[in-house]
Amino acid sequence: MNKNNIKSAILKTIKPTADERVLLSNVADELIEKVNSTAAGQNIPDVSARLVGSAARGTWISGTHDLDIFITFPDETSREELEKFGLSIAREIAKDAEKSEEHYAEHPYINMRYRDFDVDLVPCFRVSSPGSIKSAVDRTPFHNEFIKQNISGLEDDVLLLKQLMRGGGVYGSELRTQGFSGYLTELLVIHFGSFEKVLESACNWKPNLVIDIKEHGSLKHTDPLVVIDPTDPKRNVAAALSLDNFSRFIDISRSFNQNPTEEMFFPPPAKELTDHEFIERVNLRKSAIVAVVFKTPDVVDDVLYPQLYKMEQATAALLEDYDFTVIKTGSWAGDDVVVLLELMTSTLPDVKKHVGPPVWVRAHAEMFKSKYEGADDVFSMYIEDGRYVVEIPRKYADAKKLIEGRLGMCSLGKQITASVSEGFEVVEGKEILRVKESGFRVFLRGWA
Ligand code: UTP
Ligand code: MN
Repeated sequence: MNKNNIKSAILKTIKPTADERVLLSNVADELIEKVNSTAAGQNIPDVSARLVGSAARGTWISGTHDLDIFITFPDETSREELEKFGLSIAREIAKDAEKSEEHYAEHPYINMRYRDFDVDLVPCFRVSSPGSIKSAVDRTPFHNEFIKQNISGLEDDVLLLKQLMRGGGVYGSELRTQGFSGYLTELLVIHFGSFEKVLESACNWKPNLVIDIKEHGSLKHTDPLVVIDPTDPKRNVAAALSLDNFSRFIDISRSFNQNPTEEMFFPPPAKELTDHEFIERVNLRKSAIVAVVFKTPDVVDDVLYPQLYKMEQATAALLEDYDFTVIKTGSWAGDDVVVLLELMTSTLPDVKKHVGPPVWVRAHAEMFKSKYEGADDVFSMYIEDGRYVVEIPRKYADAKKLIEGRLGMCSLGKQITASVSEGFEVVEGKEILRVKESGFRVFLRGWA
Protein backbone atom coordinates (compact mmCIF):
# COMPACT_ATOMS: atom_id res chain seq x y z
CA MET A 1 0.00 0.00 0.00
CA ASN A 2 1.22 3.51 -0.69
CA LYS A 3 1.48 6.23 1.94
CA ASN A 4 -1.83 7.86 1.11
CA ASN A 5 -3.77 4.60 1.28
CA ILE A 6 -2.15 3.73 4.59
CA LYS A 7 -2.90 7.16 5.99
CA SER A 8 -6.55 6.97 5.07
CA ALA A 9 -6.88 3.40 6.38
CA ILE A 10 -5.36 4.45 9.70
CA LEU A 11 -7.47 7.60 9.91
CA LYS A 12 -10.60 5.48 9.49
CA THR A 13 -9.81 3.75 12.76
CA ILE A 14 -8.39 6.66 14.79
CA LYS A 15 -10.65 9.54 13.81
CA PRO A 16 -13.59 9.89 16.19
CA THR A 17 -16.97 9.38 14.55
CA ALA A 18 -19.64 12.09 14.63
CA ASP A 19 -21.51 10.13 17.34
CA GLU A 20 -18.39 9.83 19.42
CA ARG A 21 -17.74 13.58 19.16
CA VAL A 22 -21.28 14.42 20.19
CA LEU A 23 -21.04 12.09 23.18
CA LEU A 24 -17.71 13.61 24.24
CA SER A 25 -18.93 17.16 23.99
CA ASN A 26 -22.14 16.31 25.86
CA VAL A 27 -20.22 14.77 28.73
CA ALA A 28 -17.76 17.70 28.77
CA ASP A 29 -20.61 20.25 28.78
CA GLU A 30 -22.36 18.38 31.56
CA LEU A 31 -19.22 18.40 33.71
CA ILE A 32 -18.49 22.07 33.04
CA GLU A 33 -22.04 22.95 33.99
CA LYS A 34 -21.71 20.86 37.16
CA VAL A 35 -18.48 22.56 38.19
CA ASN A 36 -19.99 25.99 37.66
CA SER A 37 -23.22 25.23 39.50
CA THR A 38 -21.41 23.43 42.34
CA ALA A 39 -19.15 26.47 42.79
CA ALA A 40 -22.19 28.74 42.88
CA GLY A 41 -23.95 26.39 45.32
CA GLN A 42 -20.92 26.46 47.63
CA ASN A 43 -20.72 30.28 47.35
CA ILE A 44 -17.31 30.18 45.74
CA PRO A 45 -17.21 33.24 43.45
CA ASP A 46 -15.74 33.64 40.00
CA VAL A 47 -14.94 30.01 39.25
CA SER A 48 -15.01 28.91 35.64
CA ALA A 49 -14.53 25.42 34.25
CA ARG A 50 -12.85 24.82 30.91
CA LEU A 51 -12.22 21.85 28.73
CA VAL A 52 -8.53 21.71 27.75
CA GLY A 53 -6.20 19.07 26.28
CA SER A 54 -6.74 17.11 23.07
CA ALA A 55 -10.51 16.83 23.60
CA ALA A 56 -10.81 20.61 23.32
CA ARG A 57 -8.62 20.79 20.24
CA GLY A 58 -10.04 18.02 18.07
CA THR A 59 -6.80 16.07 18.34
CA TRP A 60 -7.97 13.09 20.39
CA ILE A 61 -7.79 9.55 19.12
CA SER A 62 -11.03 7.60 18.80
CA GLY A 63 -11.59 5.27 21.74
CA THR A 64 -9.36 7.26 24.12
CA HIS A 65 -12.02 8.84 26.26
CA ASP A 66 -9.97 11.27 28.26
CA LEU A 67 -11.28 14.66 29.41
CA ASP A 68 -9.08 17.30 30.99
CA ILE A 69 -11.33 19.76 32.81
CA PHE A 70 -9.68 22.69 34.51
CA ILE A 71 -11.40 24.49 37.36
CA THR A 72 -10.00 27.99 37.04
CA PHE A 73 -9.84 30.45 39.93
CA PRO A 74 -9.08 34.19 39.86
CA ASP A 75 -5.40 35.08 39.99
CA GLU A 76 -5.73 36.67 43.47
CA THR A 77 -6.93 33.40 45.05
CA SER A 78 -4.46 32.08 47.62
CA ARG A 79 -2.89 28.69 47.10
CA GLU A 80 -4.66 27.38 50.22
CA GLU A 81 -8.04 28.55 48.98
CA LEU A 82 -7.46 27.16 45.51
CA GLU A 83 -6.64 23.77 46.97
CA LYS A 84 -9.50 23.82 49.46
CA PHE A 85 -12.20 25.09 47.07
CA GLY A 86 -10.84 23.12 44.11
CA LEU A 87 -11.07 19.89 46.05
CA SER A 88 -14.45 20.61 47.57
CA ILE A 89 -15.94 21.26 44.12
CA ALA A 90 -14.21 18.24 42.58
CA ARG A 91 -15.27 15.96 45.45
CA GLU A 92 -18.89 16.99 45.03
CA ILE A 93 -18.78 16.03 41.35
CA ALA A 94 -16.93 12.82 42.10
CA LYS A 95 -20.01 11.70 44.05
CA ASP A 96 -21.66 11.01 40.68
CA ALA A 97 -18.60 9.20 39.30
CA GLU A 98 -18.25 5.46 38.74
CA LYS A 99 -15.03 5.72 40.71
CA SER A 100 -12.61 8.45 41.70
CA GLU A 101 -9.24 8.96 43.26
CA GLU A 102 -7.47 12.01 44.70
CA HIS A 103 -3.97 12.68 43.43
CA TYR A 104 -1.31 15.08 44.59
CA ALA A 105 0.83 16.74 41.94
CA GLU A 106 1.74 20.39 42.43
CA HIS A 107 -1.74 20.73 43.92
CA PRO A 108 -4.36 18.13 44.63
CA TYR A 109 -6.68 17.05 41.79
CA ILE A 110 -9.22 14.34 41.17
CA ASN A 111 -9.14 11.64 38.54
CA MET A 112 -12.43 9.88 37.99
CA ARG A 113 -14.33 7.53 35.72
CA TYR A 114 -17.48 9.37 34.74
CA ARG A 115 -19.95 8.04 32.15
CA ASP A 116 -17.08 5.86 30.96
CA PHE A 117 -14.73 8.79 30.43
CA ASP A 118 -11.39 9.14 32.19
CA VAL A 119 -11.75 12.64 33.64
CA ASP A 120 -9.14 14.81 35.36
CA LEU A 121 -10.61 17.69 37.39
CA VAL A 122 -7.67 20.03 37.91
CA PRO A 123 -7.81 23.33 39.85
CA CYS A 124 -5.63 26.11 38.43
CA PHE A 125 -5.10 29.87 38.60
CA ARG A 126 -6.47 32.06 35.81
CA VAL A 127 -3.36 34.21 35.34
CA SER A 128 -3.12 37.08 32.85
CA SER A 129 -0.09 35.76 30.98
CA PRO A 130 2.06 32.62 30.96
CA GLY A 131 4.88 34.71 32.43
CA SER A 132 2.95 35.01 35.69
CA ILE A 133 1.91 31.40 36.24
CA LYS A 134 1.91 30.13 39.81
CA SER A 135 1.96 26.43 39.06
CA ALA A 136 2.85 24.32 36.02
CA VAL A 137 -0.78 23.50 35.19
CA ASP A 138 -1.62 27.19 34.78
CA ARG A 139 0.10 27.04 31.38
CA THR A 140 -2.35 24.56 29.96
CA PRO A 141 -5.16 27.05 29.14
CA PHE A 142 -2.59 29.08 27.18
CA HIS A 143 -1.51 25.97 25.27
CA ASN A 144 -5.12 25.41 24.47
CA GLU A 145 -5.54 28.89 23.01
CA PHE A 146 -2.37 28.64 20.94
CA ILE A 147 -3.24 25.24 19.50
CA LYS A 148 -6.86 26.16 18.82
CA GLN A 149 -5.70 29.19 16.85
CA ASN A 150 -3.15 27.30 14.78
CA ILE A 151 -4.29 23.72 14.36
CA SER A 152 -7.27 24.15 12.11
CA GLY A 153 -6.97 21.82 9.09
CA LEU A 154 -4.09 19.89 10.65
CA GLU A 155 -6.05 17.74 13.13
CA ASP A 156 -5.74 14.57 11.05
CA ASP A 157 -1.99 15.08 10.79
CA VAL A 158 -1.76 15.26 14.59
CA LEU A 159 -3.83 12.07 14.94
CA LEU A 160 -1.54 10.20 12.53
CA LEU A 161 1.58 11.42 14.29
CA LYS A 162 0.25 10.50 17.74
CA GLN A 163 -0.75 7.03 16.56
CA LEU A 164 2.58 6.39 14.80
CA MET A 165 4.39 7.42 17.99
CA ARG A 166 2.13 5.20 20.06
CA GLY A 167 2.79 2.26 17.78
CA GLY A 168 6.52 2.89 18.15
CA GLY A 169 6.29 3.19 21.95
CA VAL A 170 7.49 6.81 22.08
CA TYR A 171 4.21 8.62 22.83
CA GLY A 172 3.64 9.96 26.33
CA SER A 173 5.68 12.36 28.41
CA GLU A 174 5.29 10.60 31.78
CA LEU A 175 8.55 9.70 33.49
CA ARG A 176 7.90 6.04 32.75
CA THR A 177 7.90 6.60 28.98
CA GLN A 178 10.02 9.75 28.53
CA GLY A 179 8.48 10.27 25.11
CA PHE A 180 6.54 12.90 23.15
CA SER A 181 3.59 14.68 24.82
CA GLY A 182 0.36 15.46 22.97
CA TYR A 183 1.16 19.18 22.99
CA LEU A 184 4.60 18.46 21.52
CA THR A 185 3.11 16.48 18.60
CA GLU A 186 0.74 19.38 17.92
CA LEU A 187 3.59 21.89 17.88
CA LEU A 188 5.67 19.69 15.55
CA VAL A 189 2.79 19.45 13.08
CA ILE A 190 2.19 23.22 13.24
CA HIS A 191 5.88 23.97 12.78
CA PHE A 192 6.59 21.59 9.89
CA GLY A 193 3.16 21.87 8.27
CA SER A 194 2.02 18.25 8.05
CA PHE A 195 2.44 14.70 9.38
CA GLU A 196 4.70 13.75 6.48
CA LYS A 197 6.80 16.88 6.72
CA VAL A 198 7.49 16.15 10.39
CA LEU A 199 8.72 12.68 9.41
CA GLU A 200 10.79 13.93 6.48
CA SER A 201 12.51 16.41 8.74
CA ALA A 202 13.02 13.86 11.54
CA CYS A 203 14.98 11.59 9.17
CA ASN A 204 17.81 14.13 9.47
CA TRP A 205 17.46 15.21 13.10
CA LYS A 206 20.50 15.36 15.33
CA PRO A 207 20.55 15.99 19.08
CA ASN A 208 20.42 19.61 20.26
CA LEU A 209 17.93 20.51 17.57
CA VAL A 210 16.12 23.73 18.53
CA ILE A 211 12.64 24.56 17.20
CA ASP A 212 11.42 27.97 18.24
CA ILE A 213 8.16 28.76 16.45
CA LYS A 214 7.86 32.27 17.89
CA GLU A 215 11.61 32.93 17.90
CA HIS A 216 11.42 34.06 21.50
CA GLY A 217 13.41 31.41 23.43
CA SER A 218 15.25 33.02 26.33
CA LEU A 219 17.24 30.18 27.95
CA LYS A 220 19.87 27.66 26.82
CA HIS A 221 18.66 24.08 27.06
CA THR A 222 20.79 20.95 26.78
CA ASP A 223 18.05 18.41 25.98
CA PRO A 224 18.23 16.28 22.80
CA LEU A 225 15.24 18.13 21.36
CA VAL A 226 14.35 21.69 22.31
CA VAL A 227 10.92 22.97 21.30
CA ILE A 228 10.42 26.36 22.86
CA ASP A 229 6.89 26.76 24.19
CA PRO A 230 5.15 29.42 22.05
CA THR A 231 3.37 30.52 25.22
CA ASP A 232 6.45 30.62 27.47
CA PRO A 233 9.93 31.59 26.21
CA LYS A 234 11.65 29.88 29.14
CA ARG A 235 10.19 26.41 28.72
CA ASN A 236 11.27 23.45 26.58
CA VAL A 237 8.13 21.45 25.74
CA ALA A 238 10.33 18.43 24.88
CA ALA A 239 12.22 18.45 28.19
CA ALA A 240 10.90 15.00 29.14
CA LEU A 241 12.04 13.32 25.89
CA SER A 242 14.97 10.95 26.39
CA LEU A 243 17.84 10.64 23.93
CA ASP A 244 16.79 7.08 23.14
CA ASN A 245 13.18 7.99 22.34
CA PHE A 246 14.38 10.95 20.26
CA SER A 247 16.56 8.46 18.36
CA ARG A 248 13.78 5.85 18.09
CA PHE A 249 11.59 8.47 16.45
CA ILE A 250 14.30 9.24 13.88
CA ASP A 251 14.48 5.51 13.17
CA ILE A 252 10.66 5.23 12.91
CA SER A 253 10.59 8.19 10.50
CA ARG A 254 13.17 6.63 8.22
CA SER A 255 11.34 3.29 8.18
CA PHE A 256 8.07 5.02 7.40
CA ASN A 257 9.61 6.93 4.52
CA GLN A 258 11.22 3.81 3.05
CA ASN A 259 8.44 1.34 3.57
CA PRO A 260 5.30 2.57 5.33
CA THR A 261 3.06 -0.13 6.81
CA GLU A 262 -0.12 -0.22 8.89
CA GLU A 263 1.70 -2.37 11.46
CA MET A 264 3.89 0.61 12.34
CA PHE A 265 0.76 2.34 13.68
CA PHE A 266 -0.78 -0.80 15.15
CA PRO A 267 1.91 -3.37 15.91
CA PRO A 268 0.53 -6.80 16.84
CA PRO A 269 0.41 -7.17 20.63
CA ALA A 270 3.56 -8.82 21.97
CA LYS A 271 3.10 -12.34 23.32
CA GLU A 272 4.44 -13.76 26.56
CA LEU A 273 7.80 -15.49 26.33
CA THR A 274 7.29 -19.13 27.35
CA ASP A 275 9.58 -21.05 29.70
CA HIS A 276 10.80 -23.10 26.76
CA GLU A 277 11.60 -20.06 24.61
CA PHE A 278 13.47 -18.36 27.44
CA ILE A 279 15.60 -21.43 28.15
CA GLU A 280 16.38 -21.74 24.46
CA ARG A 281 17.50 -18.10 24.32
CA VAL A 282 19.64 -18.45 27.44
CA ASN A 283 21.33 -21.55 25.98
CA LEU A 284 22.02 -19.87 22.66
CA ARG A 285 23.37 -16.63 24.14
CA LYS A 286 25.73 -18.30 26.63
CA SER A 287 25.81 -15.10 28.66
CA ALA A 288 24.58 -14.87 32.25
CA ILE A 289 21.22 -13.31 33.03
CA VAL A 290 20.75 -12.25 36.62
CA ALA A 291 17.63 -10.69 38.14
CA VAL A 292 16.90 -8.85 41.37
CA VAL A 293 13.29 -9.38 42.48
CA PHE A 294 11.40 -7.57 45.26
CA LYS A 295 7.93 -6.21 46.11
CA THR A 296 6.90 -3.14 44.12
CA PRO A 297 6.59 -0.15 46.46
CA ASP A 298 3.13 1.42 46.52
CA VAL A 299 3.89 4.75 44.81
CA VAL A 300 2.74 6.47 41.61
CA ASP A 301 4.53 5.73 38.34
CA ASP A 302 6.19 9.15 38.21
CA VAL A 303 7.96 8.27 41.47
CA LEU A 304 8.54 4.58 40.78
CA TYR A 305 10.05 4.59 37.30
CA PRO A 306 12.83 7.14 37.84
CA GLN A 307 13.89 5.09 40.89
CA LEU A 308 13.80 1.92 38.83
CA TYR A 309 15.98 3.38 36.09
CA LYS A 310 18.35 4.65 38.75
CA MET A 311 18.53 1.19 40.30
CA GLU A 312 19.45 -0.36 36.93
CA GLN A 313 22.38 2.07 36.69
CA ALA A 314 23.46 1.60 40.29
CA THR A 315 23.40 -2.20 40.10
CA ALA A 316 25.31 -2.22 36.82
CA ALA A 317 27.90 0.14 38.34
CA LEU A 318 28.29 -2.16 41.36
CA LEU A 319 28.95 -5.14 39.08
CA GLU A 320 31.41 -3.20 36.91
CA ASP A 321 33.23 -2.05 40.05
CA TYR A 322 33.87 -5.68 40.91
CA ASP A 323 35.12 -6.57 37.40
CA PHE A 324 31.93 -8.03 35.93
CA THR A 325 31.10 -6.91 32.38
CA VAL A 326 27.51 -5.79 31.89
CA ILE A 327 26.02 -6.27 28.41
CA LYS A 328 22.68 -4.61 29.14
CA THR A 329 20.13 -3.91 31.86
CA GLY A 330 16.35 -3.74 31.97
CA SER A 331 13.55 -3.38 34.49
CA TRP A 332 9.89 -4.17 34.81
CA ALA A 333 7.34 -3.56 37.56
CA GLY A 334 4.06 -5.32 38.31
CA ASP A 335 3.30 -6.88 41.72
CA ASP A 336 7.04 -7.44 41.90
CA VAL A 337 9.87 -5.38 40.51
CA VAL A 338 12.36 -7.28 38.36
CA VAL A 339 15.69 -5.62 37.58
CA LEU A 340 17.52 -7.63 34.95
CA LEU A 341 21.21 -7.65 34.11
CA GLU A 342 22.87 -9.55 31.31
CA LEU A 343 26.54 -10.19 32.06
CA MET A 344 29.38 -11.62 29.98
CA THR A 345 29.71 -14.14 32.79
CA SER A 346 28.41 -14.36 36.34
CA THR A 347 31.48 -16.00 37.86
CA LEU A 348 35.05 -14.74 37.76
CA PRO A 349 38.29 -16.52 38.70
CA ASP A 350 39.25 -16.44 42.37
CA VAL A 351 42.43 -14.58 41.52
CA LYS A 352 42.33 -10.83 41.12
CA LYS A 353 45.16 -8.73 39.75
CA HIS A 354 45.82 -5.69 41.93
CA VAL A 355 48.22 -3.09 40.54
CA GLY A 356 50.30 -1.06 43.03
CA PRO A 357 52.51 2.04 42.79
CA PRO A 358 55.60 2.46 40.59
CA VAL A 359 58.68 1.05 42.31
CA TRP A 360 60.48 4.46 42.23
CA VAL A 361 57.79 6.20 44.26
CA ARG A 362 59.70 4.96 47.25
CA ALA A 363 57.47 5.59 50.29
CA HIS A 364 54.28 4.26 48.63
CA ALA A 365 56.12 1.39 47.00
CA GLU A 366 57.68 0.23 50.28
CA MET A 367 54.36 0.43 52.08
CA PHE A 368 52.65 -1.57 49.35
CA LYS A 369 55.36 -4.21 49.35
CA SER A 370 55.41 -4.64 53.13
CA LYS A 371 51.60 -4.90 53.22
CA TYR A 372 51.47 -7.82 50.76
CA GLU A 373 54.87 -9.51 51.02
CA GLY A 374 54.52 -12.78 52.86
CA ALA A 375 50.76 -12.36 53.51
CA ASP A 376 49.25 -15.89 53.33
CA ASP A 377 46.48 -15.12 50.86
CA VAL A 378 48.73 -13.53 48.20
CA PHE A 379 49.05 -15.83 45.17
CA SER A 380 52.05 -13.98 43.73
CA MET A 381 53.85 -10.66 43.58
CA TYR A 382 55.94 -9.26 40.73
CA ILE A 383 56.95 -6.08 38.90
CA GLU A 384 55.24 -5.19 35.61
CA ASP A 385 55.71 -1.97 33.64
CA GLY A 386 57.61 -0.54 36.57
CA ARG A 387 54.87 -1.20 39.14
CA TYR A 388 54.38 -3.72 41.92
CA VAL A 389 51.58 -6.11 41.12
CA VAL A 390 49.98 -8.58 43.52
CA GLU A 391 47.58 -11.35 42.69
CA ILE A 392 45.15 -11.78 45.56
CA PRO A 393 41.83 -13.60 46.17
CA ARG A 394 38.80 -11.84 44.81
CA LYS A 395 36.18 -10.71 47.34
CA TYR A 396 33.23 -11.58 45.14
CA ALA A 397 33.78 -14.17 42.42
CA ASP A 398 30.04 -14.67 42.00
CA ALA A 399 27.70 -11.92 40.73
CA LYS A 400 24.76 -13.22 42.72
CA LYS A 401 26.73 -13.13 45.99
CA LEU A 402 28.03 -9.67 45.18
CA ILE A 403 24.50 -8.31 44.72
CA GLU A 404 23.25 -10.11 47.83
CA GLY A 405 26.15 -8.73 49.83
CA ARG A 406 26.28 -5.17 48.60
CA LEU A 407 22.99 -4.07 47.05
CA GLY A 408 22.07 -2.57 50.42
CA MET A 409 25.05 -0.20 50.12
CA CYS A 410 24.02 1.11 46.69
CA SER A 411 22.34 4.47 46.48
CA LEU A 412 18.79 3.66 45.43
CA GLY A 413 15.67 5.82 45.54
CA LYS A 414 13.80 6.28 48.80
CA GLN A 415 10.85 3.93 48.26
CA ILE A 416 12.93 1.30 46.47
CA THR A 417 15.47 1.33 49.30
CA ALA A 418 12.63 0.75 51.75
CA SER A 419 11.21 -2.15 49.75
CA VAL A 420 14.63 -3.75 49.10
CA SER A 421 15.49 -3.55 52.78
CA GLU A 422 12.42 -5.67 53.54
CA GLY A 423 13.89 -8.39 51.37
CA PHE A 424 14.93 -9.23 47.83
CA GLU A 425 15.99 -12.25 45.89
CA VAL A 426 18.71 -12.62 43.29
CA VAL A 427 17.95 -15.29 40.70
CA GLU A 428 19.92 -16.42 37.71
CA GLY A 429 19.21 -18.03 34.33
CA LYS A 430 16.15 -20.23 34.29
CA GLU A 431 15.38 -19.45 37.95
CA ILE A 432 14.05 -16.16 36.54
CA LEU A 433 11.11 -18.16 35.22
CA ARG A 434 9.67 -18.29 38.70
CA VAL A 435 8.33 -14.80 37.94
CA LYS A 436 5.11 -15.76 36.18
CA GLU A 437 3.37 -12.37 35.80
CA SER A 438 2.15 -12.12 32.24
CA GLY A 439 3.33 -8.52 31.74
CA PHE A 440 6.81 -9.60 32.77
CA ARG A 441 6.84 -12.41 30.22
CA VAL A 442 5.78 -9.96 27.49
CA PHE A 443 8.56 -7.61 28.57
CA LEU A 444 11.02 -10.51 28.56
CA ARG A 445 10.25 -11.29 24.90
CA GLY A 446 11.46 -7.82 23.95
CA TRP A 447 14.42 -7.82 26.30
CA ALA A 448 16.07 -11.23 26.38
P1 UTP B 1 -2.62 15.25 28.36
O1 UTP B 1 -1.47 14.44 28.86
O2 UTP B 1 -4.00 14.72 28.58
O3 UTP B 1 -2.32 15.49 26.79
O4 UTP B 1 -2.46 16.69 29.00
P2 UTP B 1 -3.26 15.82 25.57
O5 UTP B 1 -2.66 16.98 24.85
O6 UTP B 1 -4.67 15.97 26.02
O7 UTP B 1 -3.04 14.54 24.63
P3 UTP B 1 -3.78 13.11 24.65
O8 UTP B 1 -4.45 13.03 23.31
O9 UTP B 1 -4.72 13.07 25.81
O10 UTP B 1 -2.66 12.11 24.76
C1 UTP B 1 -3.42 17.73 28.92
C2 UTP B 1 -2.74 19.07 28.73
O11 UTP B 1 -1.82 19.34 29.78
C3 UTP B 1 -0.62 19.97 29.30
C4 UTP B 1 -0.84 20.20 27.82
O12 UTP B 1 -1.34 21.51 27.60
C5 UTP B 1 -1.86 19.13 27.46
O13 UTP B 1 -2.58 19.41 26.30
N1 UTP B 1 0.58 19.11 29.50
C6 UTP B 1 0.45 17.79 29.80
C7 UTP B 1 1.85 19.62 29.34
O14 UTP B 1 2.02 20.82 29.09
N2 UTP B 1 2.92 18.81 29.49
C8 UTP B 1 2.81 17.50 29.79
O15 UTP B 1 3.85 16.79 29.91
C9 UTP B 1 1.54 16.97 29.93
MN1 MN C 1 -5.71 14.54 27.33
